[in-house]
Amino acid sequence: MTQKLILALETSCDETSAAVVAGGRTILANIISSQVPTHQKFGGVVPEIASRKHIENVIPVVDQALAEAGTILADIEAIGVTCGPGLVGALLVGVATAKALAFALNKPLIGVNHLEGHIFANFLAHRDLEPPFVALVVSGGHTSLVYLKDYNDLVLLGQTRDDAAGEAFDKIARVMNFPYPGGPHIDNAAKQGNPAAIPFPRAFAVQEGENKFAFSFSGLKSAVLNYLNNAAQRGEPVSIPDVAASFQAAVVDVLVMKTLAAAQHTGVEQLVLAGGVAANSSLKATLASQAGEQGLKLFYPPPVLCTDNAAMIACRAYYQHLAGDYADLNLNAIPSLKF
Ligand code: KG4
Ligand code: ZN
Repeated sequence: MTQKLILALETSCDETSAAVVAGGRTILANIISSQVPTHQKFGGVVPEIASRKHIENVIPVVDQALAEAGTILADIEAIGVTCGPGLVGALLVGVATAKALAFALNKPLIGVNHLEGHIFANFLAHRDLEPPFVALVVSGGHTSLVYLKDYNDLVLLGQTRDDAAGEAFDKIARVMNFPYPGGPHIDNAAKQGNPAAIPFPRAFAVQEGENKFAFSFSGLKSAVLNYLNNAAQRGEPVSIPDVAASFQAAVVDVLVMKTLAAAQHTGVEQLVLAGGVAANSSLKATLASQAGEQGLKLFYPPPVLCTDNAAMIACRAYYQHLAGDYADLNLNAIPSLKF
């Protein structure tokens, strides 16, 4: 085998995933066992249930990934695993499994930051993409702008001070009675609505100062809840598509504005989107058109690589492997791991 094979595990939230990636960029297998149906009836992820489901699923997904990749453990060069951020019990299942595999096989172990994994999903989707670029990471738990100077040189430019973009999508969707996770439902409903119908607030819409690259979505969330409650109290009808479209426009406006400002600040010519909310159709379309106007190239992964998966963890692990960035068997889950 000429290309290095990385086996990676991802168990940070509600997907149990194992992947085999060759040479950092070629996915041979990316098995994702979703727990969404299990958590849906609770309206969100129940951490204890997530951990138990990971324990049931982790070895089967590893077996499936190896079978689909047509390889065996002996041919794997290194083992990558998400060690944070995420739910501690969920992370521990992946970390313990990866440590056992690395120890038994005597292979290098690589601890991967989940957020960096989301960014690296773009290297799987775009074979010619190379640093430098600015990445907007928008997931259920995080909203960050990152300057990726090189594969192993990442600089955090700014992040949310409260809710993550995906969290806002999910909370708004919940009060509008959409199933969990609500982001894709808001995205769909918004297609029939008027984004200018309701003037929801745009937080930190500033060009200068310490909040230049910071985000805040909790005020927007409250504004939408107040709008819905007031309408209900007055017995006024509400257009769900208009609320969805106006909320989404408020999120997208701020994300796009700050991402373009970050490109200007760093002087990069490429932008990438990463994380579950990168699947949002309005975010992709708006950023693509505004980036295009400024001569910037925009990259984003296909939806299956936007949400949690182990292939992106394998890709990140590959570049850490090239840099000799290994963990030892003391590797632990770090629920609040930062960039
Ligand atoms: O990255 P991810 O799978 O998990 C975390 O690491 O958090 O992101 C999941 C988030 C959820 O909040 C989900 O509602 C959101 O991504 N999401 C979307 C869309 N698809 C997924 N949000 C808006 N529009 C979408 N099309
Ligand atoms: Zn994620």
